[in-house]
Amino acid sequence: MLTRSKSADGGKVVVWDLPTRLFHWLLAGMFAVAWFTHEDDRYLDVHVFAGYVFFGLLLFRMLWGFVGGYYARFREFGYRWTNARDYLRATLRGPSRRYLGHNPAGSWVVFLMLGLGLAISFTGMFVLGAEERHGPFAGAFSFAHATLFHLLHEASAVGLLVVVAFHLTGVAYESWRHRENLAGAMVTGRKRGPGVDAVIFRGVGALLLAGVAVSAIVQFAGHVRATPEKPYLPFTGPTLPDSALWRAECGSCHLAFHPTLLPLRSWEALLAGQRDHFGDDLALDAATLAGLRDFYTPNAAESALTEAAWKTDRSIPPGETPLRITETEYWKRKHRDISQRTWERDPVRTKANCAACHLDAEQGTFEDAAMRPPGPQTDQSRPKTR
Ligand code: HEC
Ligand code: HEC
Repeated sequence: MLTRSKSADGGKVVVWDLPTRLFHWLLAGMFAVAWFTHEDDRYLDVHVFAGYVFFGLLLFRMLWGFVGGYYARFREFGYRWTNARDYLRATLRGPSRRYLGHNPAGSWVVFLMLGLGLAISFTGMFVLGAEERHGPFAGAFSFAHATLFHLLHEASAVGLLVVVAFHLTGVAYESWRHRENLAGAMVTGRKRGPGVDAVIFRGVGALLLAGVAVSAIVQFAGHVRATPEKPYLPFTGPTLPDSALWRAECGSCHLAFHPTLLPLRSWEALLAGQRDHFGDDLALDAATLAGLRDFYTPNAAESALTEAAWKTDRSIPPGETPLRITETEYWKRKHRDISQRTWERDPVRTKANCAACHLDAEQGTFEDAAMRPPGPQTDQSRPKTR
């Protein structure tokens, strides 16, 4: 893996092989993309894509730590904690020994970043599996776990940000101390010798780039093919149970609200009062009522078939039986930022007109990615994370 440098007299030598440099900048880029897309659920697919690439890069780096270029190998910078501590002390006192590869303190930062990166990746996939029923852990956890995973995901991301701050401080300080541009060396791969040239591995670098490009095409192809009639929804969990009878009897005046949106006692109360249904007489006979009951009973909010079902059910005090979805605490909380004007304007008109803003209201899934709040002044109604 090493060739004698032609310039062992102090000229430039190759320290960082191409795959290591690509890994470094792609990882930093993906972390930035994920960071800036985490607030807004509409960019969840971009966030998740950045997360997967980030994870893939970490896996690559772990492999590269064994088979990669000389300075990229773990055994080249597997220093003890005491080495790092002593190095830090010496550095703070004055100019310390210059390392061509990672110095002992820097190596600890690298391992910390790898560890935190893996923690972010796994907790991210856990949140995705628990909340969106998507990814490798789809359905492996209940909605109840999502809150904890969310917390760990955010905590590890903040942790990484702190370590990155250390890393940048270290790079700036060492660059100044040793009069060399360390960030630039991560671009060109070259540093002042004397030393030995590492192999560059152009082919592996090209494969790495191609892997990221192909993943991007696969991930975002749906957006390109989407039409207004057939919008692309990147995060659609399992399809919910459906009923033709329910649609026929409850979908003529308004959206056939999916049973997951209210608890069982609410549906019972609504149908018990069907002769005076918000001013209308539904005039349903006993057989129809029984058929409707067979559909809503197993699929009511208690079934926790969706995140919304689970959260709706938990938001209603035990003694209460809301007759409106729009009066449940969860619904009110989710929509409190929407202005009165938006509710009254076309095409919304009434709060119960869920389909005006949710592309998947008919299916009852209410996915984050399917929210399309209308109008130009929807700034206040932009979806945010929970
Ligand atoms: C004849 C017309 C009609 C039919 C049929 C009908 N509804 Fe309604 N429903 C209404 C009206 C009117 C409202 C009140 C709408 C509003 O205030 O915006 C309403 C409201 C509701 C709401 C409350 C929505 C909210 O604000 O959260 C629910 C739940 C509901 N209906 C369920 C049903 C179910 C279940 C069926 C079938 C068994 C059904 N409806 C059939 C007319 C109808
Ligand atoms: C004026 C547009 C609008 C209408 C009408 C509307 N919603 Fe929403 N809804 C939103 C927006 C915007 C959000 C995102 C809020 C957030 O995440 O902070 C949202 C969030 C939700 C969520 C939470 C989704 C999640 O995973 O975070 C559910 C469930 C939901 N709406 C159900 C409904 C139902 C049921 C109706 C009809 C009774 C309805 N909405 C009517 C705009 C609307």
